[in-house]
Amino acid sequence: MESRCLACHLETRICRKISKNKGTRSWKRTIKSMIRHGAELPGKERKTLIGCFVNKDKEILSFCGMDN
Ligand code: HEC
Repeated sequence: MESRCLACHLETRICRKISKNKGTRSWKRTIKSMIRHGAELPGKERKTLIGCFVNKDKEILSFCGMDN
């Protein structure tokens, strides 16, 4: 996420969306839109990241300061 997503905006945008408990479909839409904006994300990483966002991966929660 750091290398793929934070080049254009802060993590706060991503964290805010995570806190809203959005599902896989919503994240897929977001990632597609990021790719249109110029994000580079191979299909495999796309799946991994979406999984982390939907399942609230511990590392990401800690990154967002939402692990307490
Ligand atoms: C090339 C630049 C770029 C990269 C890389 C990028 N984004 Fe974005 N992102 C944007 C822009 C521009 C906006 C604001 C426009 C919009 O909302 O469509 C945005 C807005 C967002 C939003 C808020 C809008 C919404 O749909 O809720 C989220 C969430 C988001 N990005 C997630 C990500 C994630 C996750 C990644 C990594 C896979 C990422 N972005 C990588 C450019 C980028």
